[in-house]
Amino acid sequence: MYNYPDLKNLVDKAIINLSYNTEAEKLIDPVKYILSIGGKRLRPVLALMACNLFNDKIDEAIMPATGLEVFHNFTLVHDDIMDQAAVRRNFPTVHSKWGISQAVLSGDVMAFIANDCFLQVPPRCLLKVFKVFNKTAIEVCAGQQLDIDFEKAMIVTQEEHSRMIELKTAVLLAASVKIGAIIGGADDKDSELLYEFGRNLGLAFQIQDDLLDIYGDVKVFGKIPGGDIIANKKTFLLVKAMEIASGNQLKQLQELFAIKDFDPEIKVKTVIGLYDQLNIKAVTENLANDYINSATSLLDKIGVDKERKKELAQITNSLIGRNR
Ligand code: IPE
Ligand code: IPE
Ligand code: MG
Ligand code: MG
Ligand code: MG
Repeated sequence: MYNYPDLKNLVDKAIINLSYNTEAEKLIDPVKYILSIGGKRLRPVLALMACNLFNDKIDEAIMPATGLEVFHNFTLVHDDIMDQAAVRRNFPTVHSKWGISQAVLSGDVMAFIANDCFLQVPPRCLLKVFKVFNKTAIEVCAGQQLDIDFEKAMIVTQEEHSRMIELKTAVLLAASVKIGAIIGGADDKDSELLYEFGRNLGLAFQIQDDLLDIYGDVKVFGKIPGGDIIANKKTFLLVKAMEIASGNQLKQLQELFAIKDFDPEIKVKTVIGLYDQLNIKAVTENLANDYINSATSLLDKIGVDKERKKELAQITNSLIGRNR
């Protein structure tokens, strides 16, 4: 059985070995940059672990796993433009370094490089795997659409919010484990169980990301704190706060997210103060925990020995306490 560091190493090597056939070096510089400045490599590691549940041989899953990471990094390059984020993984974002046009274009090419990685899936399951990937890629775009739509919406329900994070984040984790499982030879029942497992893991993962945006240690998390508040993001924290606040607290929240000319520092400070009064951190942690518990129950149901599930179980438990 492979553990997280083993698999991360395999993915890092595959990323370094990617060959870029292009006449325009400048197109690829940002691609190499974003892929080289770190990242947890969570999605490819999940794919390889899921494959390893069913098969001791995981080499056929390495290129599609790499494709998942390249796709993920493409979404980050474009996400940082959309979210006007200047820092990622403690480094300047691609658009802050090279400008928006370059970030759009280098991001675009990454989506096609990801496709190239997927084309290396063995023919026996190529179509099945590619369909899962492509459907997921379209869903992620839909999730990002909802995310930017919600910046302008005054009221977002918990239901709307959870669909948004399911699409923008959870489906990619779900697809990662499903793809790994298919390549590893899992039957349809186990592949679907793993998809559900990954979906719950992904929901918890995004909620934890939203918590870290406010309560994380900047140096470890590697993104500018309070970015979600400044960008008017409807995170679970804000949706919940709007739901339970009343009187003056609600009025303050509504004003803070309606006014365009604000001092970002004061806005962040005031919103965090309101979250504290409303006990939002604990409520949010509870929700993430619920998703983690659901993921764990789903993992239990998969038809392989408990011993083989050890690594996936460990990742599941570590996501909640993660600080980056
Ligand atoms: C960031 O993903 C985007 C979200 C979906 C929250 P990660 O937290 O996996 O980012 P890296 O790849 O480890 O930097
Ligand atoms: C990212 O969500 C989701 C995708 C990139 C698809 P966020 O906007 O919260 O991710 P970070 O915080 O910038 O990494
Ligand atoms: Mg975003
Ligand atoms: Mg973002
Ligand atoms: Mg975030």
